[in-house]
Amino acid sequence: MKKERVLSGMQSSGKLHLGNLVGALSNWVALQEKYDCFYFVADWHALTTGYAHPEEIRGSTNDLLVNFIAAGLDPERSTIFIQSMVPQHAELHLLLSMITPLGWLERVPTYKEKQENLEERDLAMYGFLGYPVLQTADIVIYKARHVPVGIDQMPHLELSREIARRFNHLYRKNIFPDPEGLLTQFPKVTGLDGRKMSKSYDNAIYLSDAAEVVEHKILRTMKTDPARMRRTDKGDPEQSPVYQLHKVYSSPEELAEVAEGCRTAGIGCIDCKKMLIKNVLRALQPVWEKRNDLISNPDRLYEIARLGSEKAAAVAEATMEEVRHAMGLR
Ligand code: TRP
Repeated sequence: MKKERVLSGMQSSGKLHLGNLVGALSNWVALQEKYDCFYFVADWHALTTGYAHPEEIRGSTNDLLVNFIAAGLDPERSTIFIQSMVPQHAELHLLLSMITPLGWLERVPTYKEKQENLEERDLAMYGFLGYPVLQTADIVIYKARHVPVGIDQMPHLELSREIARRFNHLYRKNIFPDPEGLLTQFPKVTGLDGRKMSKSYDNAIYLSDAAEVVEHKILRTMKTDPARMRRTDKGDPEQSPVYQLHKVYSSPEELAEVAEGCRTAGIGCIDCKKMLIKNVLRALQPVWEKRNDLISNPDRLYEIARLGSEKAAAVAEATMEEVRHAMGLR
């Protein structure tokens, strides 16, 4: 039986942290078992907000591709590529922009939110408004059925369905299937300060952090239960960001041990942190090894991107033939 197609992308703006790894990438890795997966680095999307800093985007694009492979995406099994290396996405973005009502775009919640959150950047740009149109092109050009994304991306997917349907309806063709968001449950990753781990909160542990940096961040900056002022004070593990991260990285036995130790003041916060550090480092070790391997071999990395993008372009071009025909361009 033919495998169903999964597609997802990540914008290359900034470094990846443990939250991205646990939340998105490990899910992508798992999906490779059952689906025909397409995963890509959305460097054009990064330009919609980062257009004034192209050198940063270039670095992020490279780093993101490295992380994809280091986390376990397999170029032999999945199609892994870079958006700007498949120019058909841009052509479809243009053609879809002809049939996308402005009102639909202005209503997308991220449109206003991002403008407010990134006040220092001028986002009153045509390309920024069209962000979800480009995202729609990314998805439907591969006729992907399932799109694994976080909950924040659901409004974009809703819009993608609307645009795909409008296209099919206008041109009386059934070219694009309905793309569906694929929401999966994954553990929430808590940041150093107890809030959700996020680049913008400055509370993250990055995949590119060296072991010493990870150790320093957890040992010296991560918050614990404020009730445990002294070593002898009893605490509540649920109040401690350290315990929250133990939930992701430690075994059930260790989890029980640190919870009990916290409640009874049997162990100190430093002991608890040291156990966490050991487990985080153990989990990251193989990822770091693969990262270093790829970073020291840029030719191989480029080859992965080139081959993946060629594979993607062949599929994208076949869809574009149908699209051009439907729109009277052939
Ligand atoms: N908007 C997505 C994000 O910010 C990235 C993205 C671009 C994407 N194109 C996509 C995700 C297509 C899924 C499908 O993470």
